[in-house]
Amino acid sequence: MDMAVAQLEPNSLVLDVGSGNGRNSLYLADLGHQVMALDIAPEYLLDLERQALSLGRIAAQNILPVVGDISEPMFREDMFDIVVANYVLQYVDKPIVHDLQDLTKPGGLNVVEAYIGTPDQQSAKRQWSLYEPGELKALYQQAGWEIRGHSETLRPFSIHTDELSGKITSLVSSSTKLIAKKPGSLTPLHRSSPVVAQKDTSRLAEYWRRADPEWYEHLVQLGEI
Ligand SMILES: C[S@@+](CC[C@H](N)C(=O)[O-])C[C@H]1O[C@@H](n2cnc3c(N)ncnc32)[C@H](O)[C@@H]1O
Repeated sequence: MDMAVAQLEPNSLVLDVGSGNGRNSLYLADLGHQVMALDIAPEYLLDLERQALSLGRIAAQNILPVVGDISEPMFREDMFDIVVANYVLQYVDKPIVHDLQDLTKPGGLNVVEAYIGTPDQQSAKRQWSLYEPGELKALYQQAGWEIRGHSETLRPFSIHTDELSGKITSLVSSSTKLIAKKPGSLTPLHRSSPVVAQKDTSRLAEYWRRADPEWYEHLVQLGEI
C-alpha cells in the first residue's frame, strides 16, 4: 500500500472494495484522501466507523462507509483515482476485474491483492474465485495498463473451517499483489460519473462536496444528490 500511496495525488478519490473493518480505508483517509469504503457486511463498516472516530477528525471526515455488493452495478465509468481490492476478489466472479478497471479514471491506479490457486485448490475452495499465477497481471496487461508493482508468493494451500459454524478459522494460500496504472492521465475532465446506488444521499452529498466541489455542484444540478 505504501508504494501506491507514494504515487497518489493529495486528496485522491479512493474506492476500497471489500474494505472490511478498514485496514486500508482508515490508513488512506487518515492521510487525507477521500475514501469510499464499500463492503457487503454492515457490521464491519460499523467497526470501521468506530475506528475512524477514534483516529480523529481527519479520518472520520474523509471516510464514507457504503453497504453494497461489488458484483452489482453501482458506479459509472472513470470515477475513482484509485481502486483498492484486497482479499475480496475470491468472493466474486472474475469479470469483476474489468469492472474495477472501468470505474478507475484514466491515469488512476488499482491496488489488488488476491488469492492464487491451482485448479485442484480451486475445487477444494468450492465457490471461490482463485487466480492462476500470472493471471491477474495478465488481465491488466491485456487491458493496456502499466504494471507499477507486482509480486506473487507461492505457498502450499490449506484451509480449516469450524465444523459447527462452517466459518474459516485459518487459511494459507498463495497470493498475488499488484499495482497498475490505467492508460491516460488524471484530469478533472474525466470526473463524469455520479454514484447511483447510495441510499444515504445526505452523506453522499457531503462526501462529494468535500472531495470535489465542482462535481458536487454538477450532481446538485442533475438532481442526483
Ligand atoms: C478478507 S476481508 C478483506 C478486508 C480488507 N480488504 C483487508 O484487506 O483487510 C474480505 C471482505 O470482503 C467483503 N465482501 C465479500 N464479498 C463482497 C462483495 N460481493 N461486495 C463487497 N464486499 C464483499 C467481506 O464482507 C469482507 O469484509
